[in-house]
Amino acid sequence: MSRGGPGTVHVLLVAGSLREGSTNGAVLATAAELARPPMTVERYEGLDRLPHFNPDRDAPPLDPAVDELRSAVHRADALLFSTPEYAGALPGSFKNLLDWLIGDDHPRSLYEKPVAWINASAGTGAVDAHASLRTVLGYAHATVVDSACAAVPVPRGAVAGGRVTDAGLRADIAAVLAALASVGASADA
Ligand SMILES: Cc1cc2nc3c(=O)[nH]c(=O)nc-3n(C[C@H](O)[C@H](O)[C@H](O)COP(=O)(O)O)c2cc1C
Repeated sequence: MSRGGPGTVHVLLVAGSLREGSTNGAVLATAAELARPPMTVERYEGLDRLPHFNPDRDAPPLDPAVDELRSAVHRADALLFSTPEYAGALPGSFKNLLDWLIGDDHPRSLYEKPVAWINASAGTGAVDAHASLRTVLGYAHATVVDSACAAVPVPRGAVAGGRVTDAGLRADIAAVLAALASVGASADA
């Protein structure tokens, strides 16, 4: 059962871009705006505070930024990612975040946790980054919710005030949330 009670699902939103005015950040800000009870959402904002992953530092006492990241994951029933592709791969800072999640042996870690992503690339499709994301999440033994993974190409012009403004794109983002909401229902079954 979700920590928020029967039928609820708490989703952690994680963007892979540090850019101010990020389209991926706007996608997740829009998801946060569109989410309705019984879904609750939380945006992870600590990407630029994480230290470089080092297995020697993956032991108590953890860096506070790592502790904050892992606690946010533990609170969540599901994670929704949105990341750009850089040079045919995941952004280094985002891969670093994922590396910090691999060795977490907490019962509410990424292990078997439902995850999905929105591929917001309006360019070449960012297929290599998303293939890599699937691979890394496989190493984490996360449960990819394929029905909630979607390509929602967001041109920079469709973003204003840190939100996606285009009605069709907003509907696509809402559909992803609806697919993720089923995670809460199945967790209660
Ligand atoms: C250094 C750099 C490398 C990039 N490499 C790729 C790439 O390999 N494939 C791709 O589809 N887009 C690539 N892009 C385009 C970004 O993915 C695109 O700008 C994306 O919208 C950035 O997302 P953001 O607005 O959330 O930061 C690259 C951009 C930069 C700055």
